[in-house]
Amino acid sequence: MTIDHSVVVGIGKGGSCKTTLATQLAAIWSSEGKRVLLADLDTQASATKVCGLEPNDHGDGRHLMDSVMYGDKLTTVKARDRLHVVVAGKHTKTLSHHLVTAEGGPEAFSQSFNQLLEANQFDRIVFDLPPSGSSRLADMAMQTGKYLLVPTSAGVDNIEGLRVLAEELELLESNILLLGVVLMRIGAGASRKRAEAQKEVSDILDGVADPFNTVIREASTAYDDSRKAKLFLHEYAEWASTVSITNQIKGRIQIPTNLTDLAHEFYELADEVDDRIALAERLLETSTS
Ligand SMILES: Nc1ncnc2c1ncn2[C@@H]1O[C@H](COP(=O)(O)OP(=O)(O)OP(=O)(O)O)[C@@H](O)[C@H]1O
Ligand SMILES: [Mg+2]
Repeated sequence: MTIDHSVVVGIGKGGSCKTTLATQLAAIWSSEGKRVLLADLDTQASATKVCGLEPNDHGDGRHLMDSVMYGDKLTTVKARDRLHVVVAGKHTKTLSHHLVTAEGGPEAFSQSFNQLLEANQFDRIVFDLPPSGSSRLADMAMQTGKYLLVPTSAGVDNIEGLRVLAEELELLESNILLLGVVLMRIGAGASRKRAEAQKEVSDILDGVADPFNTVIREASTAYDDSRKAKLFLHEYAEWASTVSITNQIKGRIQIPTNLTDLAHEFYELADEVDDRIALAERLLETSTS
C-alpha cells in the first residue's frame, strides 16, 4: 500500500511553509533531471497555482477524485519539463469528504499513484498537504507515503508544535519515515537564533530524525517577487542573473539582494533531502535482504 519514492510535505498548521517547500523542491528535482509528480492535496490549490496552473482550467481537483473514487487512470498536468501536477480544486474537498466514510480509502488512494509508478512515468512523487487535522486526504497521504518532510519556522509555539508529531503519526498508524525537519524563515543574520532553533528541534525529535543543516532564510520580498514573476525561485534567480547591470543601476529592475542566497539554500536543501532518501533506501534494502 506504500507509495514508493514519495515525499510527503506536511504536519503543521496553516502558513508553516508546506506549499513553499513542496513546490520549490519538486521544481529543483525536476530541473536536475528527475521526473517529478507534485500532488496537490489541498482544496485551496496553492501548489497548483505556484506552478502557474489555474485549477479551473484543469478539472478543479476532478482528476484525483475520479481516480480514487472510480478507478480512472490519474490525469496529471504538465507544468514544466519533467514536472507534472495533480491539480487540486473544489473537488478535492468532495473527495476528502467522501473518504471519511468510504471503505478501502488508503488502498484506492495509493493505487492511483502506484499505477503511474508501475508505468514508470515518474521518479519521485511530492505531496503537498493542507494544514494538519483538516482533511481525510492528508491522513491518507500520511498512511501511504514513504518519507515525511516537516517544515517549521522559528518561535516557541512552532517548535513546540513538533512535540505532537509522534502522537499524530501514532494516531494515524502511519509507518512513514521522518526524513527530517526543515527550519524555514529564519533571519539570515541571526546565527545564534539559528543554532538555538536547531538544537531545540533536535531535542524535541530526540533521535527520531535530525533537523536539516540547511536553513531557509526569511526573505519575503525575494519570495513574493518570484511569485509575481510566476517563476520558481531557482528560475527567477537564473533570470535575475541575466538582468544587465545598467538596468539595475538605472533602477528599472530591482532585484532583492538576498534572492541568490535564498535560491541557493533551496538547492542545498534539495541535495540534503536526496542524500537522506538515498541513505534510507540503502538501509531499507539491507534490512529486508
Ligand atoms: N523564505 C521566505 N521568507 C519569507 N516568507 C516566505 C518565505 N517562503 C515562503 N514565505 C511566505 O510564507 C507564507 C506561507 O507559505 P505557504 O503557503 O508555503 O504555507 P503553507 O504551510 O502551505 O500554508 P497552508 O497551511 O495554508 O497550506 C506565504 O505567504 C509565503 O509568501
Ligand atoms: Mg499550503
